[in-house]
Amino acid sequence: MRHKVIAGNWKMHKNAAETTTFLNDLVNNMPTGKEVEVMVAPAFTNLMLATQILEDTNITVAAQNMHQAEGGAFTGEISADMLKSVGVETVILGHSERRQYFKETPALLANKVDTALRHKMRVIFCVGEELKDRKSKQFQNVVFYQLKDSLFHLPKEAWENIIIAYEPVWAIGTGETATPEQAQEMHQFIREQIAHHYGSLANNVTILYGGSVKPDNAQTIFSQPDVDGGLIGGAALNTTDFTAIINAI
Ligand code: G3P
Repeated sequence: MRHKVIAGNWKMHKNAAETTTFLNDLVNNMPTGKEVEVMVAPAFTNLMLATQILEDTNITVAAQNMHQAEGGAFTGEISADMLKSVGVETVILGHSERRQYFKETPALLANKVDTALRHKMRVIFCVGEELKDRKSKQFQNVVFYQLKDSLFHLPKEAWENIIIAYEPVWAIGTGETATPEQAQEMHQFIREQIAHHYGSLANNVTILYGGSVKPDNAQTIFSQPDVDGGLIGGAALNTTDFTAIINAI
C-alpha cells in the first residue's frame, strides 16, 4: 500500500500563540490506528515552535517554501539549511499561490527541488490547472508540463523523496471541490506520466489531492484508487475539521 499523507498547509495563518494552542489541541485529539502520516505546515516564524511541540509525536512539520540558494544576500528568504537546522525535513514547493503571486517559474521550481533534494529533504510538489485550462480542456497538458519542466530531470532515486499534490487552482479556497471522478482522472494521469518517464516506481509515488477538501467530501475523494491523501488549506486551521479529515482516510 502506498504511503498516505494528510498535510495541513496553514498559509499565512496562526501566530505563535495560536500555533501553540492548535498543536496542543491536535496532539490531544489525534486520531489513532490510522495508517497515515499527518503533517502541518506553519509559517516560517512558527516552524521551530512546532517542531518542539511535536517532538515526541508522529506529526511531521513541513515548510511552505524555501529559497533555491544555499545562502547569501537574499533579504527575507529562508534556505534549506535553515529549515533543517530547526528540524524541518519536508518542504512544499510549486504551490499555485507561489506561482501566481510570486511568479515562480517551472525552471525556478526545478532549481528549488534540486536544492531541497541536495539537503536530503522531502518535497511536496504542487501541480494543478487554472479554470481557463479546465474549460479549454488543456488541463492535462498544463499538468504534464508542470511535471516535466520541474521534475522529469530528476534521476529515478530522487523520487523516493517526492510527493505530488494535485491542486486544481479553481478548487483552492473556493468551496468548488473537484469531483472524486475528476480527482481520480488527474491522479491516474499524473501517475501514468511518471510511469511513462520512470517506469514502475510511479506505483509508489504518493499523490495528494488539494482544493476545498472538507470533512463531508474527504472520504469519497480519498477512496479513489490513485488518491493517497490530501493537502488541506482552510479545513486544516481548526482541529475539529482537520481530525475529521484524518479520520476519513
Ligand atoms: O495547499 C492546500 C490548499 O491550497 C488548499 O486550500 O482551502 O481549498 O483546502 P483549501
